[in-house]
Amino acid sequence: MELTNEDFEMISRTVYDLCGILLDGNKKYLVEARLRPLMDDFACGTWNELYIKLRHGGSKKLREAVIDAITTHETLFFRDKTPFQALRYKALPELIDAKEGTKYPRRIRIWSMACSTGQEPYSIAMVLHEVLGDLTAWDIRILATDISSQSVNQASLGIYEELDLQRGMSEEYLRKYFTRVDSGWRVNDSIRALVHFEKRNILEPFTGLGLFDIVFCRNVAIYFPKEVQKDLFLRIKEVLWEESYLFTGSTEILTSFGPEFQPQHHCGTVFYRPLKTPAEV
Ligand SMILES: C[S@@+](CC[C@H](N)C(=O)[O-])C[C@H]1O[C@@H](n2cnc3c(N)ncnc32)[C@H](O)[C@@H]1O
Repeated sequence: MELTNEDFEMISRTVYDLCGILLDGNKKYLVEARLRPLMDDFACGTWNELYIKLRHGGSKKLREAVIDAITTHETLFFRDKTPFQALRYKALPELIDAKEGTKYPRRIRIWSMACSTGQEPYSIAMVLHEVLGDLTAWDIRILATDISSQSVNQASLGIYEELDLQRGMSEEYLRKYFTRVDSGWRVNDSIRALVHFEKRNILEPFTGLGLFDIVFCRNVAIYFPKEVQKDLFLRIKEVLWEESYLFTGSTEILTSFGPEFQPQHHCGTVFYRPLKTPAEV
């Protein structure tokens, strides 16, 4: 059955309400391709029925399946390389210095906000391991969140196929941080122990999370409209302190949102420091 413009309008508005993703008119093909397989699974004879069930049926399973299907989970270990070099050679050493003399000099809090299947937070954990060596003296927690329960479940397993590892993982790190298992390679416990996975919609308030030293919010804001992006980054600023770092995707440039974030150019990439007024510090 055909997805009419009216069906598309209603479904895309519902998707926006569920996860902030903006599907404009030329994404009709995407809705058809990604949501059509769910129609049988959830016994929907028409697109309108899918819409009604989604909006008014109260089925959590259907909402989750739609979010899983419509979101793009493309990711890889050490994606774009340079942000991870900047983390290793600039942000982390500076952060460690800045922490000296604070109340918790050996505590590091990192948030990978849209972690997909886990490659990003595990890459961060490997960099931390490389920089700090013996981690026993450190109190480290990487919070890794994503709106897609399927992605979060897969990420928590920490098991990757050969193909996933060919994209971004060096031989050296493979030997050091992974163990061969039947279905592929498993991230070693020393790395897994640093990462805590949670399902979370980043468009909802960040209550009770505390402050972070480093936030990775990469390749997710691009799917949101400009005003939602701005609100998201301003809320991120609230969970940073003056020595924190924010890493975004290469096309997610924050300067157009005003002076709230100061761009830092290092190792061939750009990352940001929050501009905190004395009253905010
Ligand atoms: C393209 S992946 C990016 C993964 C990783 N950050 C990277 O750069 O490789 C985008 C991820 O954002 C997640 N996502 C989309 N909307 C979200 C929302 N409102 N809250 C949390 N995660 C969201 C998707 O489920 C998907 O896994």
